[in-house]
Amino acid sequence: MEMEANKFPRCDLKGKVAIVTGAGQGIGEWIALGLADAGADILIADLKVQRAERTSKKISEMGRRACFFEVDIGDIEGVAKMIDYACKELGGLDILINNAGVNVHKKALDITEEDFDKIIKVNSKGVYFCSQAAARVMIPKRRGKIINIASVTAFLVRSGVPNSVYAMTKAGIVMLTKALAEEWAQYNINVNALAPGYFATPLVADRLTDAEVNEKIISSTPLGRVGEANDIIGAAVFLASDASNYITGQTISIDGGRTIL
Ligand SMILES: NC(=O)c1ccc[n+]([C@@H]2O[C@H](COP(=O)([O-])OP(=O)(O)OC[C@H]3O[C@@H](n4cnc5c(N)ncnc54)[C@H](O)[C@@H]3O)[C@@H](O)[C@H]2O)c1
Repeated sequence: MEMEANKFPRCDLKGKVAIVTGAGQGIGEWIALGLADAGADILIADLKVQRAERTSKKISEMGRRACFFEVDIGDIEGVAKMIDYACKELGGLDILINNAGVNVHKKALDITEEDFDKIIKVNSKGVYFCSQAAARVMIPKRRGKIINIASVTAFLVRSGVPNSVYAMTKAGIVMLTKALAEEWAQYNINVNALAPGYFATPLVADRLTDAEVNEKIISSTPLGRVGEANDIIGAAVFLASDASNYITGQTISIDGGRTIL
């Protein structure tokens, strides 16, 4: 088959609109900046509005259109308003990054119903209904990219690190990614996930400052370090772009090789 040289796929997001949840700091902020660098206009959604505004300002300074929205992704009405706002302010929705997530570091015997509900509300219910609301906008256009942020805790347990409810929700995201990918393939919507290992963000800061824990993390990571912004941005931009159009239902571990051991 003849290929036209200028038709090779590129990780170019010019003219695309993305929502990144939990983009006020950490991995969500990195991904939002990466998508903007690749050309996308972005709605920054976060529970903490000052954080969202800060990231949005950085994106405007990069020359992209950006806006911010205060939302608890566990609140279905708020999620619907967030999607409407992106469509109104930025003219549509092509990419959803389901990044917002929370954890409660307690042993299984100490987890209360309140802890359990708090984690499920964001990591499971939030991801589910953000995806549903986004798909309602993407389906009529017959195109869209949904990228869920899971975790390597979906696949393995680190001895001595209590993560039972969090791990359960992240394993659920891996399966939800497959289920939604199958249902929405007919509408040309790709649903994939990224499973980060340890990245130095506020979510895991307490663990990374403990020398003993840090040493255990490094020694069980073949590449010998924790992840940095550029380690996850590349994969997110790829999955958001046309270069990944034949990939759906997959979870890619971004973990320095931790899950191969
Ligand atoms: N940092 C890591 O090492 C790591 C590893 C594996 C997976 N992850 C996953 O990556 C994602 C981002 O993690 P992070 O380390 O950047 O976290 P973080 O705590 O640094 O940032 C999360 C952001 O999400 C926002 N948020 C929390 N609850 C929300 C809600 N209900 N609605 C809207 N926004 C909300 C917070 O305000 C915050 O700005 C999470 O899903 C997390 O589980 C992180």
